[in-house]
Parts: sequence; structure tokens; C-alpha cells
Amino acid sequence: MKTIAVTGQKGGVGKTTLAVHIAENLHRTLNVPVSLIDRDPQQAAARWGAAFGLPGADLKTPLGAAVRERKEAGDAFCVIDTAPSIGGAFKDIHSVADIVLLPTQASMLDITSLGTALGALRATYPALRIFAVLNQIDERLVITREAVAGLDAAEVPQFATHIMRRTGYTRAALTAVYPHPEIDALVREIRNHLAK
Ligand SMILES: Nc1ncnc2c1ncn2[C@@H]1O[C@H](COP(=O)(O)OP(=O)(O)O)[C@@H](O)[C@H]1O
Ligand SMILES: [Mg+2]
Repeated sequence: MKTIAVTGQKGGVGKTTLAVHIAENLHRTLNVPVSLIDRDPQQAAARWGAAFGLPGADLKTPLGAAVRERKEAGDAFCVIDTAPSIGGAFKDIHSVADIVLLPTQASMLDITSLGTALGALRATYPALRIFAVLNQIDERLVITREAVAGLDAAEVPQFATHIMRRTGYTRAALTAVYPHPEIDALVREIRNHLAK
């Protein structure tokens, strides 16, 4: 089983949206068992995932045990969504995650603080594969190119795939319509890294 964690210090950047879309995409396109473990007390991802049959884990179960249970249940992938927090979440995540995604908007303030936080985390967890994912992007805007350059300058590894700002993401829990081409591309990138 491969474990994909979606985390970060900020709320509202798209952690839950991306965690659910990645889990749904893996489940639908590969037709394999996928779980979605939600560590945010609000349990939005857990409710959303349950609506299309993705199992999760009780919040009270420690993360290591929860991931082990899903592995024993035979899942091919386990996606973890977290509450906004970086140091605390990483203490739990680093021992279970094969790859960590940090969604971020194209905002220089966010990218600068991501660079600082990640510098410290990389020193503590040098083996962890961590990537920023630019979310809520408009490719026509100069800030998108500036954000890519800003992540490079801060030495934050990033996925080439950018997730567009689309009303479809906001409405997906209602419409159950998921096939966005950039999620396919992001999942391909994730799987390529996991295969290395
Ligand atoms: N790519 C996107 N396009 C449009 N809206 C988005 C996108 N990603 C997230 N959102 C919206 O932004 C808000 C915050 O997203 P959410 O996934 O809850 O963030 P987090 O889990 O980091 O707090 C939600 O209203 C969500 O629908
Ligand atoms: Mg969330």
C-alpha cells in the first residue's frame, strides 16, 4: 500500500479538496481499494469519501495504527487529509507517508512561509518526499509564473501539474462529478514518484 498525505500549515488552501479528488481518481481509474483517512476534527473529507464508499478510520485511532489497519485490509492506496498544522502533523505523518503534498495558492506570502517551514521540516525528516501543489490557479496570471519561480527559489519541490480554480471543485461534493484532466495529470505525477 502506498500512502499519500495532504497537509500544510494553512486552512483553506485545498487540502481536503485535493485529498478527496486524488482518492476518488485512484479508486475510479485504477479500480483498486483506496482509503481516505481524515485527521481533521471537522471530518469533511471523511463524510465526503464515505459518500462514494471510501473507508476511513476513527479519529481516536492513532495514525500509525489506522494506516496499518488499512494496509491489512488490502488497500492499494491510503490518502490522508489533515487539519491545518505543519510541525504537529508531520510528527505523525513522517513515519507513515510515502509522499507528502502541500497544496498552496499562488500567493507570495504563502510561498515564502512554506519555504521557511519546509526548510525546518527537511532538516528533521530528510528522507520524506515532500512536494508543493499549486492550487486554485489561473494560468493567464503573471502571479502563477512568479509562484513557480518563488517555490524554486525557496527550494520547495513542486509538481508540474497546476490545479485550476474551477467551480467544479467547489461543487463536487454535491454533483459527484470528478473527472478533471489536471487531477489525472497530478495522480500520474504522484504515481511516478511513488514508483521511484
Ligand atoms: N481548485 C479549486 N478551485 C475552486 N475552489 C477550490 C479549489 N480548491 C479548493 N477550493 C475551495 O476552497 C475552499 C477551501 O478548500 P478546502 O479543500 O476545504 O481547504 P483546506 O482543507 O485546506 O482547508 C473550499 O470552499 C473549496 O471548495
Ligand atoms: Mg480541510
